[in-house]
Amino acid sequence: MRLTTALLLPTLAPGFVAHNGAPQRPQFDRPAVMRGTPILASIGPPKIIICGAPASGKGTQCELLKEEYGVVHLSTGDMLRAAVAQGTEVGLAAKGYMESGKLVPDEVIIGIVKDRLAESDCKQSGWLLDGFPRTEAQALALKAAGIEPTSVLYLDVPDEMLIERVVGRRTDPVTCKIYHMKYFPPEDDEIAARLTQRADDTEEKCRVRLKAFHEHMGAVEKCYASLIAKTDGTKKKEEVFAELQKCIGDK
Ligand code: AP5
Repeated sequence: MRLTTALLLPTLAPGFVAHNGAPQRPQFDRPAVMRGTPILASIGPPKIIICGAPASGKGTQCELLKEEYGVVHLSTGDMLRAAVAQGTEVGLAAKGYMESGKLVPDEVIIGIVKDRLAESDCKQSGWLLDGFPRTEAQALALKAAGIEPTSVLYLDVPDEMLIERVVGRRTDPVTCKIYHMKYFPPEDDEIAARLTQRADDTEEKCRVRLKAFHEHMGAVEKCYASLIAKTDGTKKKEEVFAELQKCIGDK
């Protein structure tokens, strides 16, 4: 089964990024911010893969990275949740897997990502791929399509800390901002009242997601052995971000 971006996101105009199901402003009106390193300037806009276990902080860091580099943020988790909410063919295919914490089959997700990366905003501004590739087949599919990242970032966080992060996570459906009830509490009561919790953010489902992560991550790491840069994801959000910028070669 090959499913297209149009099936996945029928209500979004081309060039709009799906993040937590909410359309965002087009990215291609804004040149990629390439902060002066000869390396980045010589190879065009950044093409970044960020990987890490569930709740390792990928989404949190992507908020900062997309702001800094002006890249198109593509979160496969957000894309799939939007598809489920909209009841598209992809959403129907993905729903059961996501609810149980399992990975969605490769054939459901690979075509969508490849199609999205081929769009003009990604080509022009660069991209930040969050949650993909997650299996060897996904990594090999990117390679076969000639899609090579300029950086592969890996957030390293021990499992027990991840469970605490998962159960405390909340999302603001209005701004899509990610909170944590202990580490990043909402700024005021109005925001607190509208925060939502993901259905797969329970300890039980997180353990299933962690199992899938540990089963597959080794093979993905091997595919990007020459590029992957591990960062200690247990540090403060700002410290992690500073480390990631160094890995990208920007600082
Ligand atoms: P997805 O949405 O990608 O979930 P995930 O990988 O499990 O990652 P999370 O979104 O849970 O966490 P995160 O790393 O973004 O952490 P966050 O920044 O929010 O995927 C969901 C499902 O979709 C999968 O299970 C699968 O079914 C399917 N799927 C998606 N992609 C797929 C693919 N390629 N193939 C097959 N299936 C796929 O942070 C977590 C919490 O920690 C937050 O509360 C945050 O505030 C807090 N936090 C973050 N950083 C810090 C810090 N430095 N210190 C303290 N707290 C922090």
